Order: sequence, then C-alpha cells, then structure tokens
Amino acid sequence: MIITIDGPAGTGKSTVAQTVAERLHLDFLDTGAMYRAVGLEVLRRNANLDDPRELAFIAEHCRIEFDHSTRPPGVWLNDQSVGHLLRGKDATTAASFVAIVPAIREQLVRQQQEIGRKRPNLVTEGRDQGTVVFPGAALKFFLDATPQERARRRVAQLRARGEIVEYSEILRDIVARDERDRNRPIGPLKPSSDAEVIDTTAMTQSQVIEQIVGRARRYREAGQQA
Ligand code: DC
Repeated sequence: MIITIDGPAGTGKSTVAQTVAERLHLDFLDTGAMYRAVGLEVLRRNANLDDPRELAFIAEHCRIEFDHSTRPPGVWLNDQSVGHLLRGKDATTAASFVAIVPAIREQLVRQQQEIGRKRPNLVTEGRDQGTVVFPGAALKFFLDATPQERARRRVAQLRARGEIVEYSEILRDIVARDERDRNRPIGPLKPSSDAEVIDTTAMTQSQVIEQIVGRARRYREAGQQA
C-alpha cells in the first residue's frame, strides 16, 4: 500500500507522514530530503542557483541513499551522512531552485519510483507524489493551510531551535517558495484530482494524523473483506 502526502511547506507534512508510517508499520520516504541533498551539494560547489545546466550537472553526480534502519531514515549523500545538514536556511533555499530544474526532477522522480518498487508499503511525502510519482497510489492526501498559519508554525519551530527569526521575513520566504513550487511546469505543487485535501489551518497535528490513519485502516479493512 502506497500512501502519498503532498502539500506546501509548513503544513506539518513531514511529522504527519512519519507518524502515519510508524502507526501503520509502513516505510517512510521524505522526497524533500532528496531535493535538499542536491541543494546542499550545489551550495558546497558554490554553483550559480540561476544556471539550470550547472545544477543539473551537479545533480547527476549526487548519489542519494536512505538508511531505512533508523527512524526517520538516515540520508546519505555520496557516502556522507547529511540528514542533520538539510534543514538549514541555505539548503532550503537552494533546494527550491534545484526543484524547478526539469532534468533534476526527472532524475529524482525515477529514483523515487525505484524506491517505491523496492518498498511497496510506503508513506511518501512531497509535492508531486500523488500526481506524478505514484499516480496509482492507494490513498492520496494533500495537506494545506493559510500562508500566515504556516509562517506562524515555522517561526515557532525555528525559535524553539534557538534561531532568531522575524515573522514577516518567514512569511515572505514561504510565499516566494510557494510561488516557485506552484508555477513550475513540471511536477507543480497541486492536489491530485483523487486526493483528499485536508485544510490543517485550524487542526492539531494529532487530528490530522488520526484522520489519515483512520482512512487507511478503513481502506485496509475494506480490502480484506473484498
Ligand atoms: O518538503 P521540503 O520542504 O523538505 O522540500 C524541499 C524543497 O523541495 C521545496 O522547495 C519543495 C521541493 N520538493 C519538490 O519540488 N518536490 C518534492 N516531491 C519534494 C520537495
């Protein structure tokens, strides 16, 4: 059973997808980590973020692997563990430039589909999992929330980590990132027509998790009766 969870940043997707995977005993794939890993390599090589050919060349030389023996799975880039380096501000920005390059998307989509073949019991999260990568997935969800609420959550998260951040700056970043994610020609951020859209603005994370786990359990039970 493959469950896709797509949506913009700040909807709590990562934690929700990870917890849903644990509760249902499914594997977990964070596809954003792959774009972030390429972003990290791009930064390390001081590449020009506006040069898609240079970005694509760097991506071709990135070997990204997941270590599924830990929770969440470890992320390895060219034999180096990089999971702890992927959430910084610079890697986040670089990832959003990497994600608009068609050749890079094709490369990572192929790799995600390969992971899906090897691990067909999977909760996968990203932007295009239900639309492009796993169109035949058993269950599809799209999490959303207002930009203001997503910025508020992000500020709280960063401040809890001791970072000094301005709400207005984070909101501006989120709106700009959404714009890039929604308007790219390949794999844009949008709900699959058969996805269940969950507006999380006024929901707690556990309510979102319960909703998805409940749906998945009902789906499994219905399958077993059939
Ligand atoms: O979900 P995230 O914030 O870790 O994603 C990092 C970046 O990668 C973000 O700019 C969106 C992009 N991304 C994407 O384009 N497609 C995916 N399947 C996952 C992430």
